[in-house]
Amino acid sequence: MADSPENRGWIRRLWSWIWTPAVAFSSGFLILAGFLAGILFWGGFHWTLELTNTEEFCVSCHTMETNLGEYRETIHYNNHSGVRAICSDCHVPHEWNHKIKAKIMAVKDVYHELAGTISTPEKYEAHRLSMASAVWKKMKASDSRECRNCHNFDYMDFTLQETRAASEHQRAIDNNMTCIDCHQGIAHSLPPDYLQTYQEVTEALNAETRPTHQQLAENGEAIRSYLTSGAD
Ligand code: HEC
Ligand code: HEC
Ligand code: HEC
Ligand code: HEC
Repeated sequence: MADSPENRGWIRRLWSWIWTPAVAFSSGFLILAGFLAGILFWGGFHWTLELTNTEEFCVSCHTMETNLGEYRETIHYNNHSGVRAICSDCHVPHEWNHKIKAKIMAVKDVYHELAGTISTPEKYEAHRLSMASAVWKKMKASDSRECRNCHNFDYMDFTLQETRAASEHQRAIDNNMTCIDCHQGIAHSLPPDYLQTYQEVTEALNAETRPTHQQLAENGEAIRSYLTSGAD
């Protein structure tokens, strides 16, 4: 049926329609115009995404004296190689689908901004650990994906690192640990009791994922027994 003469005729008609002049413009021209309009729309969309990735945009809400001030004291702001990691480098994914998801999730920030959740340094401190937990949770879940956009165990020369760093990184590789497991507070201050909270975040995540692993194992077992019992 797919190869019937009517079908081929239809394709030929479409083809000649594309290339014959419409009333004023050729269909080809109209399609080209649509293509250009698409690029302009896409560009505007991209521009918005880029704009909302700048430091100026982020600190237009987060109080200067907390996040920005703390971060400016760290190696990711000033260092001997002159490579800077800005807010979005650590907090906004590069990959298209993860990035769009993060931007959509950030709509809740606008709500909290209007509600004044972190509007004073005192409120910020009171809320810090719960915000930090949200970041840890994301980083654990993504295997510190944003750190790995710049850093990679494979490219680290352990012979150039101080002994403690090299041996801890070997331990990290051997035990499947992720950057944030050891490098909390890399850009911001931490409250004294943060490690206990980090532990709780880790345990909560483990509890969330364990049933699915178990289910998978059970599924596998069920499928296996089904196949072996029915294989005669
Ligand atoms: C419209 C104001 C506003 C802008 C712009 C904004 N934030 Fe926020 N952000 C907030 C508020 C308010 C909270 C507290 C929300 C809460 O309690 O969940 C927050 C929370 C956070 C948190 C805490 C953890 C989390 O995921 O909720 C991080 C990290 C963060 N913002 C990073 C950024 C970065 C990076 C940018 C720039 C790309 C940015 N924010 C831009 C208002 C803003
Ligand atoms: C935009 C790239 C970029 C991103 C993203 C990034 N870093 Fe870095 N990081 C750097 C650079 C550049 C240096 C400084 C290198 C130098 O000159 O010594 C650095 C230094 C460090 C150091 C050394 C600290 C010290 O005191 O010597 C640690 C630890 C580190 N990063 C961990 C992290 C972690 C954890 C993350 C994710 C939360 C991260 N980095 C995200 C680029 C990045
Ligand atoms: C098991 C704990 C652990 C894990 C996991 C870990 N690190 Fe480290 N890292 C350390 C220790 C300890 C040091 C040395 C002290 C310091 O700088 O904090 C260090 C130092 C560093 C340094 C500075 C090295 C130097 O000699 O200048 C960088 C950069 C770094 N880590 C990046 C990372 C990144 C990126 C990840 C994830 C891919 C990671 N680390 C995972 C423990 C760890
Ligand atoms: C080098 C990576 C890195 C950079 C750069 C960075 N952050 Fe963070 N940020 C983190 C990590 C990791 C956490 C989780 C808490 C912790 O371990 O300190 C965090 C936590 C936060 C939180 C939660 C509250 C808190 O204080 O812990 C906010 C809000 C935040 N970041 C905003 C920003 C803003 C705004 C900028 C830019 C001025 C920025 N971050 C730059 C890595 C980074």
